[in-house]
Amino acid sequence: MITLRNVRKFYGALEVIKGVDITVEDGEFAVFVGPSGCGKSTLLRMIAGLEGIDEGDLILNGKRINDVPPDKRGIAMVFQSYALYPHMTVSENIGFSLSLKKVPEAEIRKQVEAVAEILQLTDYLDRKPAALSGGQRQRVAIGRAIIKKPSLILFDEPLSNLDSALRVQMRAELQRLHRELKATVVYVTHDQVEAMTMADRIVVLNKGVVAQQGAPMELYHQPDNEFVATFIGSPKMNVLPMTATRRDAGTVRLESPLGLAIDLPDGNGAVPQGEAKLGIRPEHLKLASEGQGDFSAEVVIVERLGVETYLTVGSQQQPIVVRAEGDMTIRPGDRVSLTAERAACHLFDSAGRVIRPAQA
Ligand SMILES: Nc1ncnc2c1ncn2[C@@H]1O[C@H](COP(=O)(O)OP(=O)(O)OP(=O)(O)O)[C@@H](O)[C@H]1O
Ligand SMILES: [Mg+2]
Repeated sequence: MITLRNVRKFYGALEVIKGVDITVEDGEFAVFVGPSGCGKSTLLRMIAGLEGIDEGDLILNGKRINDVPPDKRGIAMVFQSYALYPHMTVSENIGFSLSLKKVPEAEIRKQVEAVAEILQLTDYLDRKPAALSGGQRQRVAIGRAIIKKPSLILFDEPLSNLDSALRVQMRAELQRLHRELKATVVYVTHDQVEAMTMADRIVVLNKGVVAQQGAPMELYHQPDNEFVATFIGSPKMNVLPMTATRRDAGTVRLESPLGLAIDLPDGNGAVPQGEAKLGIRPEHLKLASEGQGDFSAEVVIVERLGVETYLTVGSQQQPIVVRAEGDMTIRPGDRVSLTAERAACHLFDSAGRVIRPAQA
């Protein structure tokens, strides 16, 4: 449905989008996620037609639209700062684009009512924005976009102004809305939790390039690189510097200065001698009986969340986060023995690229 092919963008001599290839299928909910400044808004504005494309192709439904003006693209955009018209009612705000097009009053009313129904704003149509909650205002902004019946809706961090409880509620509402409208959505956020919870497809961006794209759990379980591995998932994946010391019978021994030694399949020699990095998520480090684990370490921090407890173990230079049961009685200063789940270990080379065959 929408394809970006080798798309580039320069501001003067500064290249901010560095040859991006992305495909979003018809009806998908795609989330572009990445740290501040990685180029998310720029990409979205290029799709909307608010920024020029310096190189590459932007293809919508098989047609190259690089030079099609914004209002002819059939794309609607909801911005982070969604200034509503304060002197207009909810109904007038939602119907404004139709009034501009001189659509007859009765027709506007019908369409506004249909949109209000979907967004659960029916009871608020005569109110002014000042008399609405943050979430209701956000829904009015979405109403303004969807009344144009776009085949593609772009959202630029639409929930970042809302408090955390409302964000959780709006996440669910946006998913419901996506199902009902059957429109394609491209949603930009720096929040990996929003990406994981809402997306059919996640595109992780880093410094103007695509670090990886795929289904949420695909990125979670098979990250292509250290950046994606540590960006997706909370708390973050632990990444430990290791040295590959010796290999025999298809395995390679990795050792860390912490005293952790682990044998992993060496993938027919894919694991280079020397430096490598071991990635392991907090939930894949298991507490073992004393002396039975791969290594032992001192507990420095204990964070209780109720259902689970996060332990930070090891030294200040190399902290390691471990997920434990909620009712764990461990306290700071205790020593614990830990085992790394072999099948959930990731190996990265010194440039941060995954070494795949490491997984059993
Ligand atoms: N008009 C401009 N002139 C020069 N550089 C710009 C301009 N607009 C954006 N940039 C730069 O382009 C890069 C990408 O900006 P963009 O707004 O797309 O980032 P973002 O991923 O949306 O970040 P955030 O999460 O903070 O919104 C940034 O480094 C930014 O400084
Ligand atoms: Mg932005």
